Amino acid sequence: MRRYWIPAFFSSELPHPDCPPIRVGLLGEQLVAFRDSEGRVGLVDEFCAHRGASLFFGRNEECGLRCVYHGWKYDVEGHCIDMPSEPPESNFKHKIRLTAYPCRERGGLVWTYMGPPERMPGLPELEWAIVPEGHRYISKRIQDCNYLQAMEGGIDSSHVSFLHRGDVRVFSARLTRDTAPRFEVHRTAYGLLIGARREWDAETYYWRITQWLMPWYTMIPRFEERPIGGHAWVPIDDEHCWAWSIHWHPDRPLTDAERDDFVGQRRDIHPELIPGTFRPVANKDNDYLIDRELQRSGRSFTGIKSIGIQDQAVQESQGPRFDRTKEHLGTSDTAIINARKRLLEAVEAVAAGQDPPGLDPATHRVRSAGLFLPKTVPFDEGAGDGLLARSPAYELITA
Ligand code: FES
Ligand SMILES: [Fe+2]
Repeated sequence: MRRYWIPAFFSSELPHPDCPPIRVGLLGEQLVAFRDSEGRVGLVDEFCAHRGASLFFGRNEECGLRCVYHGWKYDVEGHCIDMPSEPPESNFKHKIRLTAYPCRERGGLVWTYMGPPERMPGLPELEWAIVPEGHRYISKRIQDCNYLQAMEGGIDSSHVSFLHRGDVRVFSARLTRDTAPRFEVHRTAYGLLIGARREWDAETYYWRITQWLMPWYTMIPRFEERPIGGHAWVPIDDEHCWAWSIHWHPDRPLTDAERDDFVGQRRDIHPELIPGTFRPVANKDNDYLIDRELQRSGRSFTGIKSIGIQDQAVQESQGPRFDRTKEHLGTSDTAIINARKRLLEAVEAVAAGQDPPGLDPATHRVRSAGLFLPKTVPFDEGAGDGLLARSPAYELITA
């Protein structure tokens, strides 16, 4: 995971130079992020190199973050640039550097790279990160489980017919007429191309086609010309992850009605959060506000409101790290089996000094699809160029 750029936090969490720093947990490390007086973003070890006080309480001033315990001060690269608790002639500060990770801003997010500097790839070219700001809506929430559990939900088309029944209003017939999709999975340069096929009529299949991009990006099949949905499932540590949820339209700004879908009553994959936090209002402490009456009524399969919370509820209910020796995988888990294989192969490749897949940003230019195809047509052929991300905004990015 250190070989990939990581979506770390919203640019807006550090709204202006010298604003308060924030805590950031990523890949098992506790970090602190700040924006210095010149607008540069730093992401450094949360704990001061002197005696370990948290720099979250630090003073962000004059191009550096100053520890409030004894005044040591660090720049965005982690260099100690002031050490007022030591005699001025001391050279000690030049020996001190905090762990620091490079940051770049794209798509409203701050991305960081925690791998070997000489192997740093280009910034991701996922379509949602490239389109103009008005074309996208992004939310994030903390999920109390291992990232893989969450991600596996993102590549598992079969749960949609059950868990989200009643909420995926507009195309529910397409998902409930056949609840046992057949999967076809292709290995690609970025990860996997996943086709889930449902019976429609004698000549036709309904295909939900999604990509899984190494190491944690999933997409939701597109419904006609609507915005496309997707996720990034980023480990905070082994038992918590960031669930980034994204909607974007490749060709036009989102309409007010679409934004209402994300922040209004329906909320889709963007649950309501406890103000000032990234924790959903409906969470495991209150059983996700399950409404048994609603569940019984059949209007909702779960009785839990919002698609994102439905996912979070079942994924967290598996436990912080589900013991996979207890599971029984069926044919509908084909994509999950393949993703695990690719992840394990990538681990072995990196251990052997090779590159993992999906580092080349050009391979990220893909998008999902949902479409009816004659039974005789292979899904990747039938979808054709529809699987390529072709937002005009790509022409504006420079290497
Ligand atoms: S612990 Fe930070 S300056 Fe002493
Ligand atoms: Fe889901």
